[in-house]
Amino acid sequence: MVRMRRLRVNEEMRSLVRETSLQKSDLVYPVFVIEGKNIKNPVDSMPGIYQYSIDRLGEELKRAAESGISAVLVFGIPEHKDDTGSEAYNAEGVTQRAVRYMKEKFPKLLVIADVCLCEYTSHGHCGLVCNGEILNDETLGLLAKMSVSLAKAGADMIAPSDMMDGRVEYIRKALDKEGFCNTAIMAYSAKFASGYYSPFRDAAHSAPAFGDRRTYQMDPANGKEAVRECKYDIEEGADIVMVKPALAYLDVVKEVSRQVECPIAVYNVSGEYSMVKAAAQNGWIDEKRIVMENMLAMKRAGAKIIITYHAIEIAGWLDGQEKLKAKEQ
Ligand code: PBG
Ligand code: ZN
Repeated sequence: MVRMRRLRVNEEMRSLVRETSLQKSDLVYPVFVIEGKNIKNPVDSMPGIYQYSIDRLGEELKRAAESGISAVLVFGIPEHKDDTGSEAYNAEGVTQRAVRYMKEKFPKLLVIADVCLCEYTSHGHCGLVCNGEILNDETLGLLAKMSVSLAKAGADMIAPSDMMDGRVEYIRKALDKEGFCNTAIMAYSAKFASGYYSPFRDAAHSAPAFGDRRTYQMDPANGKEAVRECKYDIEEGADIVMVKPALAYLDVVKEVSRQVECPIAVYNVSGEYSMVKAAAQNGWIDEKRIVMENMLAMKRAGAKIIITYHAIEIAGWLDGQEKLKAKEQ
């Protein structure tokens, strides 16, 4: 007779048949870098997350490295913004300086640079704007310039999050032409126009000044289209494709994992983080339990890489689990 409970009798049995697991090496920790000196600004809508000036960035990177996190995703917040986001591709821009600093002080840390114009443009859109329209083809050259300048600064991976069509191919060609054929591309392929990004826009000062991002980011109603986005990005040269946000889109992750062979990343975005933090602060949920369950769900759906603001705390919990196991044996 079938007794499903036979394989659940104790932890040894359960771990023997466990289908998915979470490792520190799955995790990417996002960091926000701001211009100025001696700054550690809390982001009010994201408890535990701060904007750092470059001179204090080391504190946070040390914390990440010591916890065993080996990859970070860097977002720069420039002081000067203009129509064309010129600080985005300035060799002396805040992001380029931050990347140089990171690779100099923490050479083994994998530095992934987000590529998008919205933190750098005065209008807050991810591309050039003309008469209220977000221009596609005219934006590609700037994204490529930004990518090359970040590769020159030492970035190991470029992560375009703009959602312009054809940008992966454009960026790949520009990187190769400048000799950066080993700089990987993690494309934000299926990036949805989501309400879950609003805490991030406080953190990165990147809210659009007019309108929204629905003419370039995906409609939350669409799943098949997400698979097409991923396939096109792979054809264009993406090494890793991403689905973003994560939790409300795990069906998309599953479908993409059925249909593509490259590693899949998910972005457990700011709003997802803030909801968990808020409920935990109220004592309504067990934070560790909820976070670990969420992470496992992303892995089960097919993600290999998880970009998450919880990364450092998770690393600590994973250490705790290991210690406990060692003690019991
Ligand atoms: C910029 C960008 C956004 C996020 C990552 N890169 C915001 C947006 O598209 O408005 C969101 C990350 C998060 O919410 O944690 N294009
Ligand atoms: Zn953007």
